[in-house]
Amino acid sequence: MKLRRTFLAFAAGAMLAAGPAQAVDMAIVSGDTGNGLQVLREILDQFEENTGNKVTIVPMPTSTTDQFGQYRLWLAAQNTDIDVYQTDVIWAPQLANQLVDLTEATRDVVGAHFPSIIESQTVDGRLVALPVFTDAPALYYRKDLLDKYGAKVPTTWAELTETAKLVMDKEREAGHTDMWGFVFQGNAYEGLTCNALEWVKSNGGGQIIEPDGTISINNPQAAAAVEMAKGWVGTISPPGVLAYQEEEARGVWQTGNSVFMRNWPYAYSLSNGEDSAVKGKFDVTTLPAGSGEGARSAATLGGWNLAVSKYSNNPEAAIELVKWIASPEMQKYRTLRTSNLPTIQTLYDDADVAREQPIVPRWKDVFLNAVPRPSAPVKIKYNEVSSQFWTAVHKTMSGEGTAADNLAELEISLTKLKGAGW
Ligand code: GLC
Repeated sequence: MKLRRTFLAFAAGAMLAAGPAQAVDMAIVSGDTGNGLQVLREILDQFEENTGNKVTIVPMPTSTTDQFGQYRLWLAAQNTDIDVYQTDVIWAPQLANQLVDLTEATRDVVGAHFPSIIESQTVDGRLVALPVFTDAPALYYRKDLLDKYGAKVPTTWAELTETAKLVMDKEREAGHTDMWGFVFQGNAYEGLTCNALEWVKSNGGGQIIEPDGTISINNPQAAAAVEMAKGWVGTISPPGVLAYQEEEARGVWQTGNSVFMRNWPYAYSLSNGEDSAVKGKFDVTTLPAGSGEGARSAATLGGWNLAVSKYSNNPEAAIELVKWIASPEMQKYRTLRTSNLPTIQTLYDDADVAREQPIVPRWKDVFLNAVPRPSAPVKIKYNEVSSQFWTAVHKTMSGEGTAADNLAELEISLTKLKGAGW
């Protein structure tokens, strides 16, 4: 009801300003994972019903890295076919100049979102995207199997490594030959930057580039963390993990073939789905801590937003579309269907959300304490920085050079990239 009123008010305002509002056709791009695209369609159907406008989804590959490459080309070509882009939390500084400033148009709604997320989407005082969901990963574990073998839920990576091996070996002995210990995102793309930042940060090795712009990645604790992860490949993790993104990891996990999985909250509702082999058999906990000074559990901050292209022919309607999808009502709808973490603060106290998707209230502190990737300090150079980082990690894990050598080289190359400043 409340949404309908918002739209009637908008339509009335538009009519006063420009005569009767014309229905428009718009396009939104999205590379959502899991059932995300389907849920987006359902949200758009409700928008169409309420406004008479039509919205087409242009589906994209799920890899954020592939999406970024494509969007950058489209924006550089001033493409008018795309009105709304679904944008990763790390992109704001890089795409800001080609996105509409939403500050004025969203003044009435931004207060409902977590201020830190709004800030992450604000570049030089311009709000370039409105948040739709936030992300902070979990360690998914097979409660049934840990119970079966009397194992504890691991709180350190060393414990995880040991327990994964123990349970995997026992299950294989019992005839479950496809069983693995741990799946994660090891492909050479942005997802590996997220995973490896967690290993490094949790081991007291810093966050690649610190908030003040200092390049910190070349240190023994960071190198030890990457070597630890290399040790998983082919032992507790399938050799193919070096090509896994989120969906490949979920595929192995959800068919019952892994004891542990690192993934984002979207996998929670899907793992509990009717067709899931692990339904009712798993739980989530925070990612393990490393060892040594500064060791802690570390979760990389993720999340998705909606931005209006400067080249859209329908900026007004596109802004209303963005506000619709990001609204409390639609975020609740999305969360109930996908277990994505909302960016609207009150939804963490919502009884329906807590009942249907208990990970959401449990994950509020995890995301509030999550570690940002260094997109704010390095601004437009973020994609290059990240790609150099994931390449150094992927090389090490593939057996090309030691972590110490590859991180030393990375430092040299990042220093060059930094030049006179970020
Ligand atoms: C998730 C996160 C996003 C991150 C991506 C990496 O989609 O929300 O921020 O960049 O995973 O694969």
